[in-house]
Amino acid sequence: MNSVLGVDLGTSAVKVLLVAKDGTVRDEASVSYPIYHDSPGYSEQDPDDWVNASKEAIKTVMDRLPEGDTVEGISFSGQMHGLVLLDNEHRPIRRAILWNDTRTTAECREIEANVGLDRLHAITKNPALEGFTLPKLMWVKKHEPSHFKEAAVFVLPKDYVRLQLTGELHMDYSDAAGTLLLDVAKKEWSTEMAEKNGIPLSLLPPLIASHGQTGTVTEQTAKETGLPVTCRVFAGGADNACGAIGSGILEEGVTLCSTGTSGVVLSYEASGDKDFAGSVHYFNHGAPDVFYTMGVTLAAGYSLSWYKDTFSPDTPFGALIEEAVSSPAGAKGLLFTPYIVGERTPHPDSEIRGTFTGIQASHTRGDFTRAVIEGITFSLNETVETFREKGKVISKIISIGGGAKSALWLQIQADIFDAEVVTLKSEQGPGMGAAMLAAYGVGWFENLKDCAAVFVDEQDHYQPVAENRALYRDLFTQYQQVYGATKAINHSLKPFRA
Ligand code: XUL
Repeated sequence: MNSVLGVDLGTSAVKVLLVAKDGTVRDEASVSYPIYHDSPGYSEQDPDDWVNASKEAIKTVMDRLPEGDTVEGISFSGQMHGLVLLDNEHRPIRRAILWNDTRTTAECREIEANVGLDRLHAITKNPALEGFTLPKLMWVKKHEPSHFKEAAVFVLPKDYVRLQLTGELHMDYSDAAGTLLLDVAKKEWSTEMAEKNGIPLSLLPPLIASHGQTGTVTEQTAKETGLPVTCRVFAGGADNACGAIGSGILEEGVTLCSTGTSGVVLSYEASGDKDFAGSVHYFNHGAPDVFYTMGVTLAAGYSLSWYKDTFSPDTPFGALIEEAVSSPAGAKGLLFTPYIVGERTPHPDSEIRGTFTGIQASHTRGDFTRAVIEGITFSLNETVETFREKGKVISKIISIGGGAKSALWLQIQADIFDAEVVTLKSEQGPGMGAAMLAAYGVGWFENLKDCAAVFVDEQDHYQPVAENRALYRDLFTQYQQVYGATKAINHSLKPFRA
């Protein structure tokens, strides 16, 4: 039997999926790697850890492949924005600086001053955020000039893994969109962004479509992993773009809500010429010549796991959720804002922190759990509302991740988003998107939509309950006031933080 491999290079681990022509996941393997937080706000990884872990996971799957079966193609999904600086032999000069590293606030302000907000939004379609790649490049130039001088080119995490497997240097549009150096609508590097921010054009790698072929695996890779040398390698995409593909977000009107550590609301866009003025992210899709808009809640699932680990470490999640089911919609007037690591959308603010507002003596643990789930969902709803304000019709939302594993949370999503919420039968997210890019690349399907028709299947449907919808609409306006009311005090608390 012929299969493809989808490699999902995440922040804590790489996961490899072996997928057959009918979309069945036949095997999977995962290998984790360390993350380094050497100073507050720093977040780094060793690019060669990604390569070694990816090879190990691929080998595990290949070792178990039944006799006579083969892998025709492989593609990638990658954690976005991470800066991998390479010398002229394509060796990493320093550890990669990751998407969740927040050391670059000064460089973000410099970008805004160098380019002007209007040009920044017109060219890159995005705000200047600490997580993006250009501020990281500027930080290295300023703080580690010898490293910057040594740099011949930069790539993003999955591009480095692909480079090591094939010897070919590329970056796909969906990931390049997260660098702040791409003219997103034109799909070309922006000379203006590079020059105005002091980045030599020679550092920018060749661009390619996500389904574009970037060679085959080298003899060495074949030897180390068991992949055949004939295995075709396709560029792949940003994890959010691949999550969109893997969830079938391939036409107007379908929106994705993904709740992992962070949470994402993502919507398909046919054109790149809308103006969201940087209020949400606006990136190239992994499907050819289309786009997606996206808002990010930095601590989605993380808020819930923080809450459990801090206040109820010995109570199983299931029991906490059961208690939350007995709390009424609105958690009896208890509001939670999930800003425990700062926020991105709609408040790009690394110094804001979370709150419980309205605590009263009669509140139970169930009310608190419910308030946390509602608060995370309110934060995600900020993005849904931004999309609606721009004229988008959001009537159906595919829900994946931790939030899609609880009937209570799914119903809360339907009620707060005021939309039908749908779960998927086999939910593999970005790894499946990567496998679909390979399946399309090798020619199994005419396009990604045809592939999704075979690979992606809906399961449960949740409709908003009229009474809850009205209550949440009211409560959402109260929720939205908490940011402004607590911003100054949270900023002034910075010196007290450990
Ligand atoms: C998106 C972002 C995260 C990373 C996580 O802008 O920073 O979703 O891609 O891997």
